[in-house]
Amino acid sequence: MAKVAQEMVRKAGVDLDKLLDLLVKNAAAELTTFYYYTILRVNLIDLDGEGIKEIAEVARIEDRNHFEALVPRIYELGGKPPENMVDFHNLSACSPAKLPKDPRDVKAMLTVLVEAERCAVRGYTAICNMTAGKDHRTYDMSLAILNEEIEHESWFSEFLGEGPSGHFMRRGETSPFVSKFLR
Ligand SMILES: [Fe+2]
Repeated sequence: MAKVAQEMVRKAGVDLDKLLDLLVKNAAAELTTFYYYTILRVNLIDLDGEGIKEIAEVARIEDRNHFEALVPRIYELGGKPPENMVDFHNLSACSPAKLPKDPRDVKAMLTVLVEAERCAVRGYTAICNMTAGKDHRTYDMSLAILNEEIEHESWFSEFLGEGPSGHFMRRGETSPFVSKFLR
């Protein structure tokens, strides 16, 4: 039990219950997105689909990494995810990234992907705003996750023709920002 760690966060003026609620809901969004992205990725076929399969896979794996990074922090702060996975699914901060009616409609697939990332960007921005200068570890972790979510959003929005992202493919390992929390 990280008693002093919790005490320092409370003393800094962070509403620990509210923070834990956000962390659990975002952890649920990560794990459910990992699941739904698995189905989306499998359905990215033919010339159009194959073109975005690799970035969908990187985003899928990194969302799983985000879940893995968040869980220890939730327990350190005295929280825990629900014991029932259905409850965990249903309290997710983001709506399920479900397969569109026509999985061959790549624009519809990209819209599901980019909206999932945009929800995550909003979520971690809120956690960073709440913890900046107060809960340094949660802030550091949320900022690392936010960096990866913003890159995911940029990649998918570029494929939708919304403008250049300035990025190219990940070279080497996934989670360049979050990996320090995955040791
Ligand atoms: Fe994520």
